[in-house]
Amino acid sequence: MLVLAIESSCDDTCAAVLCEESGQVTQLSNVVSSHLVHDRYGGIVPELASREHIRLIGPVVNAALGEAGIEPVAGDLKGKIDAIAATNGPGLIGSLLVGLSYGKALAYGLGIPIIGINHVEGHLCAAQLEFGLDDIRPPFVGLVVSGGHTELIRAANWGAWELLGATRDDAAGEAFDKVAKLMGLGFPGGPAISRLAAKGDPESIDFPRAWMGLKQGKLDFSFSGLKTAVKLYLAKAGWPEKPIDPQERETLMTNVAASFEMAVADVLAAKLWKATEVAGIRKVVVAGGVAANPTLRRKLTAEATQQGIELFIPAPALCGDNAAMIGMAAINRLSDGESSSYDVAAIPNLDDWSGFYISRQEG
Ligand code: KG4
Ligand code: ZN
Repeated sequence: MLVLAIESSCDDTCAAVLCEESGQVTQLSNVVSSHLVHDRYGGIVPELASREHIRLIGPVVNAALGEAGIEPVAGDLKGKIDAIAATNGPGLIGSLLVGLSYGKALAYGLGIPIIGINHVEGHLCAAQLEFGLDDIRPPFVGLVVSGGHTELIRAANWGAWELLGATRDDAAGEAFDKVAKLMGLGFPGGPAISRLAAKGDPESIDFPRAWMGLKQGKLDFSFSGLKTAVKLYLAKAGWPEKPIDPQERETLMTNVAASFEMAVADVLAAKLWKATEVAGIRKVVVAGGVAANPTLRRKLTAEATQQGIELFIPAPALCGDNAAMIGMAAINRLSDGESSSYDVAAIPNLDDWSGFYISRQEG
């Protein structure tokens, strides 16, 4: 089975082709085109994202088909792909509509199934692509950390997601982006902060950690206080006018980045390990753009080894938004005989995905 997958929920236009044969999945292409227009605004401008998706969707799908050795859309695609998957939420409504409408129209024209895929589920499936379907089998605890999500999920079975905890305010990636904006680092902020952090001392500044009832087993997160603490710290240092000395400026920036990053990593790790206790599961899958962060990866890897917990974090390229993860989620569902109707709708808010979480624990 050859699946063309499309992801356009946020500010990356993505397409991938996956091949499934006797339970083995091969990634034939995975094209990601990240929108550069948002950089100067320090955050995503939804209207600009929609326009970029419109501009990029055709070329990106053609590139993914071409890399997979399949003719582009303008050629004769009939009989060459078996199904199309497209993210239908959560995400920005305008962005979602572009990829989903494109996918639906193409699937309808070719007379093949379309399947709408939940973006959060897609992130969790990225690990299947890297580690194989046998290793990434539920039960596991999933941690999805991205620009829009910070969620701890107990996966009893594929699709039987149970929400153990989520952020009450900013998502982890959003905190990276907001702190980067304060520091004048452009968007997205995560990669820029982790580059600076590599040169700083993570223990130099004692930024607050919002434990939010961790000892009592509470698994919700909060990152807005941390962002405010960074803001106040920078203001106290006279930022951005001061320090004037370039060396002192560099030291301030690298230390703030490293200390902020460690504060985020400490909370994510502690809550993740607590979630394994609460769920009684010693296998963990981490996903989402923030999972590309080297400090977080090192910390989780070391602590998982210490505790004898099985940890799966896909390579950085599969952590951020991409369409291969959507294709993987689609293959799981198509293999179970599922597909969507041609009028499948975009559902921008996760809360409106009735039944996506089979249950939610009170935070
Ligand atoms: O999963 P993703 O590509 O898109 C969403 O679904 O949101 O995640 C993007 C987020 C952004 O907030 C970005 O700053 C963050 O992931 N990110 C990172 C790193 N690379 C990307 N955060 C920390 N460290 C990184 N190296
Ligand atoms: Zn994402």
